[in-house]
Amino acid sequence: MNNDIERVLYSQDDIKAACERLGAEITRDYAGKRPLVIGVLKGVVFFMTDLMRELDFLTDMDFIDVSSYHGGTESSGEVTLVQDLSTDIEGRDVLLVEDILDSGRTLVYLQELLSARKPKSLKIVTLLDKPEGHQMAAHVDYVGFKVPNEFLVGYGLDYNEYYRNLPYVGVLKPEVYANK
Ligand code: PRP
Ligand code: MN
Ligand code: MG
Repeated sequence: MNNDIERVLYSQDDIKAACERLGAEITRDYAGKRPLVIGVLKGVVFFMTDLMRELDFLTDMDFIDVSSYHGGTESSGEVTLVQDLSTDIEGRDVLLVEDILDSGRTLVYLQELLSARKPKSLKIVTLLDKPEGHQMAAHVDYVGFKVPNEFLVGYGLDYNEYYRNLPYVGVLKPEVYANK
């Protein structure tokens, strides 16, 4: 285990099981449809690729890059659109994929932005949901795990852009980000 990690919250096996469960549920719900799957960069990359391989329907993919943490452990309160989609979503069934729902700012921002483009439907799946972090009411359709109010890294989640490539989700030791 990485030295900066206090404890592992979800192992590779836990995450695999969650991807299989969510994939089966989403596959059932989209029977007969060909949704566009959109990932929210950068945190989503690992979950997106694992989840998509559990989806048993024809689907295309795109990414949107937004950022609000700008390196720290607290949301800046402002969501910035870094890179937009390259796909026209009007009339499409859209499945938006996120790694974590914390304050809700990112998803509220994206729900507004994408809804204005008139997709046929818009559903959201997040691997992690931190209920104690919510400050805005973001609606999600599928959740992998409800997580405690701690700063998490790994499997896409970063602190200052690092730790994304840990294969598990873990709690970062507070001394790593204290006094920074
Ligand atoms: C993180 C995370 C979610 C968002 C959740 O992204 O990946 O997208 O914050 O927080 P919120 O519910 O408080 O908005 P971040 O802005 O750090 O960008 P990143 O994915 O590139 O790390
Ligand atoms: Mn993100
Ligand atoms: Mg981040």
